[in-house]
Parts: sequence; C-alpha cells; structure tokens
Amino acid sequence: MIKNFHCHNLICPLCGEPLHQSNGSLFCPQRHTFDIARQGYVNLLPVQHKHSLVPGDTPDMLAARRAFLDEGHYAPVCRDTIDAIRQYAPSIRTLVDVGCGEGYYTARFADEFPDAVLIGADIAKAAVKMACSRDSHIDWMTATASHLPIADGCADGITAMFSLVCEEEFARVLRPGGIVVEITADTAHLIELKHIIYDDVFEQHKHPKPPQGFLREISCKQHSFRLTLDHAQLTRLLQMTPHTLRVRPERRALLDTVPSLTLTVAYFVRVLQKP
Ligand SMILES: C[S@@+](CC[C@H](N)C(=O)[O-])C[C@H]1O[C@@H](n2cnc3c(N)ncnc32)[C@H](O)[C@@H]1O
Repeated sequence: MIKNFHCHNLICPLCGEPLHQSNGSLFCPQRHTFDIARQGYVNLLPVQHKHSLVPGDTPDMLAARRAFLDEGHYAPVCRDTIDAIRQYAPSIRTLVDVGCGEGYYTARFADEFPDAVLIGADIAKAAVKMACSRDSHIDWMTATASHLPIADGCADGITAMFSLVCEEEFARVLRPGGIVVEITADTAHLIELKHIIYDDVFEQHKHPKPPQGFLREISCKQHSFRLTLDHAQLTRLLQMTPHTLRVRPERRALLDTVPSLTLTVAYFVRVLQKP
C-alpha cells in the first residue's frame, strides 16, 4: 500500500514550492520529483545539503540505539518531553521531530497525540528507513535541520531530542506561539561511563546557550535520574553514542571488565517559543 503524506505541510527542498502527491511520488510545480521508498519514507535531502556522503549515525549505532531505547531506559526523558508539550502546546496539531533517529521518541509522541500529524526528519537515511517500521502513519523523511522541507508557519511544535536546533529555520517552520522542546545532555550525563572510557573528563558546564532572537526561552529545567545497567546494556549504550567512535581500545577493554554500572542520566528540558 502506498503511504499518503500530509503534503499541505511540505515544500520542495530544491525550490521551496508546495509539494503534491501522485501515487508513489511527491512533486512540485517545477516538476522536481521525490519517490516514496517502499519502506514509506521520502528522501527530501538534496545532495547539496549533505555534509558528508553518508551523514548521521551509522547502522551499528542505530541498531544499538533501538535495542537500548526499546528496553525503556530513557522512558523518563520521553515522559518529560510529553509533559512539556502538554503544558505549552496543549492542542498540538502538527509536531516535527527533528533528528528523529530510529524513531523511538517520534512513535511515542504519535501514540500520545493521536490527533496530531507527526513528521520525523533525520539526515541519516539508515535511521529514517529503520524508523518506518515503528509507525506507518508518521511522515518520515530524510532532511536536514538547517533546510527543513516544511512550509512556513505550519508546525505547532518541534522536538529536538539530543539533536541539533537551528533556531532561524525552526522559527520559520513554527506558527506564532509554536514551541520547540529541546533535550540536551547536562554536565553529569553518563559521567560514570565517561570516567571509565576517558583518561581525563572535563566537566564542562553544559547549560544551553541563550537563544539568538528568533525564539524566546520560556522554560529550562534540569532533570536527572539513576540507571543501573548490566554489561550488555552498557555496551549498547556506548555503541549508540559518538563515544563509541572515540574510545581507545585499552579503555574499551577496561569497560569489558565492568559487570554492571549505576549511571546518572542528566538533561535539560528547554522550551523555546516563537513570539
Ligand atoms: C544523538 S542522535 C539522537 C536521535 C534521536 N533523537 C534519539 O534521541 O534517539 C542525533 C540524531 O541527529 C541526526 N542529525 C545529525 N545532524 C542532523 C541534521 N543536520 N539534520 C537532521 N538530523 C541530524 C543524526 O543522524 C542522529 O540520528
């Protein structure tokens, strides 16, 4: 069955004209055409907007992320995000999850806000392909946060779960009064793991930077909880983060001797609003 996209929200990533759907393709009046993949996503990431040949997380990182998140370890992060959406955008109709990864949070937002149109966008094709299996009603797409193929002022909310906020672009896509819920790691996030895998851990203060003027901050709260992981879970956690690409072999070997570890999960939930 061909997936139907909510095209009224979508614009051509090449010329900015509205997109329409005909059977298995989206097209604009300039006849730029984008085929819907059989998994149900559409590639709206033109080659000039890619910053590398295969941008974003690798398939191994994505598989580890899916397995780890499906075990529910970050459910409190999801709950805190949903609470912020309910508080600041109670009648949300269009929600864009930017940097959606393999779709864990996006699918939960769809369950929580069944009347809203959900868009999941990520720069990594492998991530979006995987996300399709989570929920076929979500409009999944490869796209970059800095040039979203989304019409001006059509979103009530944008989530950025441990991913990039492009303030000016997000402000373009939001309606006046629309919100961004941004989740970022706090200083103590996974600090116990970092002490094992790095020689020196610099505890930089990680408070999110003030907005540049396109959006205003209406709330910023610190949250944390503790999590005890066994060795296999710890390995998956390392694999799903960029630390996996940086850790030295001897430190990796040291982690392999750790049977279990209690970790701090610490993050900011910040809400930005378009005036
Ligand atoms: C740390 S992961 C978080 C994924 C997901 N939000 C989660 O928490 O499970 C960051 C995600 O942002 C995506 N990403 C990186 N740069 C991006 C960009 N410019 N535009 C859209 N997505 C991007 C990566 O491919 C990756 O899936």
